[in-house]
Amino acid sequence: MRPSLKKKAAARSTLSSKHRKAPAIKTDSRLLDAEKFLLPTYKRPPIVMTHGRGPYLFDATGKKYLDFLGGIAVNALGHAHPRIVKVIRREAARAIHLSNLYHNAHQGPLACKLASWSGLDRVFFANSGTEAIDGALKLARLFCRGTEEPTAAPSKKHRFLAMENSFHGRTFGAISVTATEKYRLPFAPVVPGVEFVRFNDVADLESKFDDTVCGVLLETIQGEGGINPVSELFWNRARSLATQHGALLIADEIQCGLGRSGRYFAYQKFSSKPDIVLIAKPLAAGLPLGAILTTEAVAAKVSLGMHGTTFGGGPLACAVALEFLAIVEQQKLLDNIRARGAELHAGLTNLAAKFDFVREIRGEGLMIGVELSIEGAPFVAEAMQRGLLINCTHDFTLRLLPPFNLSSAQVREFLRLFELVLATTPRQASVPDSSQSAYPERVAHAAAR
Ligand SMILES: Cc1ncc(COP(=O)(O)O)c(C=O)c1O
Repeated sequence: MRPSLKKKAAARSTLSSKHRKAPAIKTDSRLLDAEKFLLPTYKRPPIVMTHGRGPYLFDATGKKYLDFLGGIAVNALGHAHPRIVKVIRREAARAIHLSNLYHNAHQGPLACKLASWSGLDRVFFANSGTEAIDGALKLARLFCRGTEEPTAAPSKKHRFLAMENSFHGRTFGAISVTATEKYRLPFAPVVPGVEFVRFNDVADLESKFDDTVCGVLLETIQGEGGINPVSELFWNRARSLATQHGALLIADEIQCGLGRSGRYFAYQKFSSKPDIVLIAKPLAAGLPLGAILTTEAVAAKVSLGMHGTTFGGGPLACAVALEFLAIVEQQKLLDNIRARGAELHAGLTNLAAKFDFVREIRGEGLMIGVELSIEGAPFVAEAMQRGLLINCTHDFTLRLLPPFNLSSAQVREFLRLFELVLATTPRQASVPDSSQSAYPERVAHAAAR
């Protein structure tokens, strides 16, 4: 931004009184270009976001937003964290890219740190969550292929069990294990051999598990599906069935992992580990980086050239990821996540008592869902008008993903704003078709209220 614009924006943002309404920018050429030249894959408000500072984001008019979405669970340290900015500056001046034909200074140490956080042994770096998922599906097929089986033919043990209500990304492999039909069906035929199990339904899992399964894939806390933690019973059964049938238990912690739940990994509240864990979103504090973490036994099946990537695990992204993990450790952010999460939970529970359309507060740490009995989208729009960024997932659940270094004062600021949003948003009653829902009983209940 030019200095004069910067000053004006700063003046407006102080005036701003944090939460005044933003004028729609109808003649902004950047918006016109976006409308004309981008594939129409996203519905976005006519606003250009320009910069952020800590848990706040600013748009081109200087309007300030309290960011409780964090780029969908990515900006776990908020925006422009000075230590992250410093590492990016330092590393960009050294080597942004080197390729995986050579070692770089940060990939090995980062793999070592992730192994110690997760209790797993080996790491492969990808560029995104969906790529990590695709790699994991390949590893499961590879792990379960018998040595006597001809490589050109499909392996006998090739089936995947994935969960209803799941979301794993947009590549072909990932949409094949993603339950939501609108993401999958337009691109059919997808990867064959996938069956969906009702999330947390042990009987359904047991009925679909047999020796042809090579992997069972679940989000430890479902994100897009409405913030639904896996139950201990279901996790334990998935673990024991995978072991019994020689299949892999694969935990997608792309949204809930790396601290967000109040533990390094959400599965660490259970007594057993998965065979593969997938991470991405906050790993490199906003730079694209994903990873597959796995066991020595799985790694032993991998040979040279079987999998690879041009960009994954580059020196810049890995150096930033190391700094992110160091900040989480040194600043004891897990404690902060649990403490601020508890404050948010308590505040939201108070609000739920005041507004009868708030049905349930769910989640762990700083991954919280506020389930409504009415459509959530109008609340998201009203919140944005008032300078608060949240989103709505699964139609009825408002999703909160604030940064790990949130303060108590910011929790209070959020609760004040959120109460205003709940009180003033025009309510749109909605009676969806319960057969479309992953949780028809919830929808039926919602419709009845
Ligand atoms: C649980 C989960 N898995 C996978 C993905 C896909 O990650 P990416 O968008 O980085 O490809 C997402 C993205 O939202 C996610 O939430």
